[in-house]
Amino acid sequence: MLTGKVAVITGAGRGIGKAIALQFVQQGSKVVVNYRSSVKQVEELLDSIRNAGGEAIAVQADVSNEADAKRLIEEAVKQYGRLDILVNNAGITKDNLLMRMTEQEFDSVLDTNLKGTFFCTKYAATVMLKQRCGKIINISSVVGLMGNVGQANYAASKAGVIGMSKAVARELASRGITVNVVAPGFIETDMTEQLSDKVKEATITNIPLKRYGVAEEVAGAVGFLASEAANYITGQVLQVDGGLAM
Ligand SMILES: NC(=O)c1ccc[n+]([C@@H]2O[C@H](COP(=O)([O-])OP(=O)(O)OC[C@H]3O[C@@H](n4cnc5c(N)ncnc54)[C@H](OP(=O)(O)O)[C@@H]3O)[C@@H](O)[C@H]2O)c1
Repeated sequence: MLTGKVAVITGAGRGIGKAIALQFVQQGSKVVVNYRSSVKQVEELLDSIRNAGGEAIAVQADVSNEADAKRLIEEAVKQYGRLDILVNNAGITKDNLLMRMTEQEFDSVLDTNLKGTFFCTKYAATVMLKQRCGKIINISSVVGLMGNVGQANYAASKAGVIGMSKAVARELASRGITVNVVAPGFIETDMTEQLSDKVKEATITNIPLKRYGVAEEVAGAVGFLASEAANYITGQVLQVDGGLAM
């Protein structure tokens, strides 16, 4: 489905980003794996991709830093000559109740989740506008739609990603570039591993499918939006949440 395409995936050393990278490679895409600090995981990921006959490079970059985000896109184009797909997946949480949340906790989450998505989208769009085609998929969260106790910073960043994606979808549509959002619910990764068993049980009660999702289930939705089957879809939010936020 993605034969010959070139994809940049941010925060792809582990979790959902890693599952997206593996699925894209299986579908024939060349993949640029971005990471911030997961050196060992990325080395293992590149080995398994190359052993399976896939093509991938890794680029260390902190997406919240504009110069890093610019260099990430430049290195992808230098290596593979074009850029067809950008997945803005890198994200962090720094949970705290409103009255205890510090400016640093608020800013750092906004800087990575929202500003990082802005920087990478801006520099990827420069390349895609010249090509007159491209697909951008931004990973938000159901928390950006519903809110969540202790996540004022995270909810703001993920709601921001949805609003920004719709604005950019309108700006880029005339040049054949689509921009869509995938909003996962609770997915089994390091991010949700931090939650207590009590919180996990409480959240499962509210999920109609009665379980957490797995990273591969999010990757499936991203793969669809990155494929030609989704050519006429832009500015949409696809929830992968077991029915949590319907
Ligand atoms: N898990 C869930 O339940 C869930 C639900 C809804 C939405 N999401 C979203 O899905 C995305 C992936 O989450 P996950 O569950 O896979 O989380 P994760 O396992 O904690 O992985 C987060 C990834 O983001 C990368 N990252 C963080 N800050 C970065 C930065 N400044 N620059 C570059 N990369 C950075 C990390 O890279 P390093 O390891 O190299 O630092 C890591 O690869 C996030 O946007 C998250 O908000 C997750």
